[in-house]
Amino acid sequence: MKILVAYFSRSGNTKKIAQAIYDEIQCEKEIKSIDDDLSLKDYDFIFLGFPIESYGPPTNIHKFLSLKTKQMNIALFITHGVPEEQDLLPSWIENCKKILHPTAKVKDIFTCQGEVAEYVVDSLCKSPNPMLQIWAEHCHLIKGQPDESRIQKAKDFTRKTLD
Ligand SMILES: Cc1cc2nc3c(=O)[nH]c(=O)nc-3n(C[C@H](O)[C@H](O)[C@H](O)COP(=O)(O)O)c2cc1C
Repeated sequence: MKILVAYFSRSGNTKKIAQAIYDEIQCEKEIKSIDDDLSLKDYDFIFLGFPIESYGPPTNIHKFLSLKTKQMNIALFITHGVPEEQDLLPSWIENCKKILHPTAKVKDIFTCQGEVAEYVVDSLCKSPNPMLQIWAEHCHLIKGQPDESRIQKAKDFTRKTLD
């Protein structure tokens, strides 16, 4: 059994979770950053991670997600700025799943809050949308996420997924 942890991370949160997952895997394993040349074909199972950006997966990896996941066995790990229990999160996760190739087999999904980069918070503050302004205020409270307890949850998720 050969496992790949593949991730895209703009500001480091998803990379932290990727490393935690990688550390927990006890068989043959590799960890790689997603780019268009990365092939998933040589692996029996893929932990595939990225952040939510504008209510779905980052647009720069859409092509990768839709083309390279054909018939792959996958567990998704997704970081986001809102709390895990936010009402809208399930629909954003659904947007992520919809981008994958229709034959991708998604075994499990881990979602986890991550701190929001300062330049994003600045633009939320300037938004005319009151909901986004409220979210910007919340962002200051989540500095340092994912913290040790969320890292631990990612490790628990890894063991449960591979059981
Ligand atoms: C351009 C951009 C758009 C974002 N849009 C959302 C969003 O729609 N919902 C959300 O919960 N978080 C959003 N975020 C926050 C990121 O999902 C969050 O900070 C994530 O943990 C970043 O992961 P990374 O450090 O691996 O890039 C956005 C971040 C950026 C940079």
